[in-house]
Amino acid sequence: MYVSDCISVNERGHLTIGSYDTVELAKQFGTPLYAFDENEIRRNIREFKKSIDDEYNGNGLVVYASKAFCCKEMLRLCNSEGAGVDVVSGGELYTAISVDFPAENIVFHGNNKTYEELEMAVDYNVGRIVVDNLTELRTLDKIAEEKGKTVGIMLRIKPGIDAHTHSFIKTGQIDSKFGFSLETGEALEGIKEALSMENIKLRGLHCHIGSQIFDLDPFELAATVMLDLFKQVKDETGVELEDLNLGGGFGIKYLKSDRPRAYSDYMRKVSTAVNSYAADLGLKTPFILIEPGRSIVGAAGLTLYTVGCVKDIPDVRTYISVDGGMGDNPRYALYQSAYEVICANKAGEKRDWTVTVAGKCCESGDLIQEWTRVQPVEPGDILAVLSTGAYNYSMASNYNRIPKLPVIFVKNGKAREVVKRETYEQMCSCDI
Ligand code: LLP
Repeated sequence: MYVSDCISVNERGHLTIGSYDTVELAKQFGTPLYAFDENEIRRNIREFKKSIDDEYNGNGLVVYASKAFCCKEMLRLCNSEGAGVDVVSGGELYTAISVDFPAENIVFHGNNKTYEELEMAVDYNVGRIVVDNLTELRTLDKIAEEKGKTVGIMLRIKPGIDAHTHSFIKTGQIDSKFGFSLETGEALEGIKEALSMENIKLRGLHCHIGSQIFDLDPFELAATVMLDLFKQVKDETGVELEDLNLGGGFGIKYLKSDRPRAYSDYMRKVSTAVNSYAADLGLKTPFILIEPGRSIVGAAGLTLYTVGCVKDIPDVRTYISVDGGMGDNPRYALYQSAYEVICANKAGEKRDWTVTVAGKCCESGDLIQEWTRVQPVEPGDILAVLSTGAYNYSMASNYNRIPKLPVIFVKNGKAREVVKRETYEQMCSCDI
């Protein structure tokens, strides 16, 4: 078993994704490429939805956080599974609009949305704009008034919780650029102002405590902290808010040793806490929105590279260079993220060689993984890096003017491109 059930080894000793031979994928589409098992993505969404049905009477919505991996086909898939989508920029919103994503199921985030982005959201009647600060609230009210519309919003709250994760991706503490803080009274002030606005409909409150979290306790704590605020709002204004958005952040398996929790464990814990605490406080149970990104797509995707040179530096280390790098996966350079690396055409063999996998960028820090175990690889072999479905394609760059990779979806023995490989011409298309 690898990091996901959708990854295996076939009778030829080749690595497979969704039962599709990855060596064949490399031949068909060239390398480097990203490949996803479409069925695995669908299973993940269905499982999360089922956990809301089973544990919370279906009184909630799974809102896929498209920052993890956004392209038109992914958003079509989400819509076909009945999930909503979380967008965080005009570009992600544009992608959703271009596939006619139902406006009511779009949640629009961002700590510094531009005037144009807010207008775009209001024009499309986005169901919930998550307002980050007072400036934005007032701007939005003005836009709504000008357009003669009532805009549904939530306020982003910092619940001040340490979710024990990588400090770069912790967003729920007081020292964060995101949202209204509880401690300073800013949150309540924002809520009262929003409630007083004629063109604004405050639907509820949002929080997000971090990413790649395995521990369920911080999620439960966040839910209760938010309910305390619901209660305070009710006491001070008489208004009972309807929606509680608990963000995303569920950890996935990057390494065999990682132990992610099932969605049902999460929902059971959160539902129990919300139901009983809301009852204690005399509140009705809120409609819950959950925003998983990484856990929907992360382990459903991998990257395939071709090995170029193998450089053994005696008594130092062995570098294996591949035809991609930090342009398609900046996560090791940014966060020292761990990944499993497998030689796709020798997947049946033992991984008993310790190497550093380097990219082809003109930079020493362009590494995909250091001191990792792989099969004895040679130039021309296909190297797979697992669990790259989240925050790889979406964080890719054209550093060194290397074109972006294609994205292939495999499903039931078929492979199709859902994002084409960028050409040099396309890469230069904005140059004057
Ligand atoms: N909702 C909000 C408001 C968020 O800020 C995020 C992630 C999510 C949902 C989805 O979280 P997920 O379920 O994917 O953990 N680039 C980093 C991750 C940054 C996450 C930012 N916010 C990485 O590569 O690890």
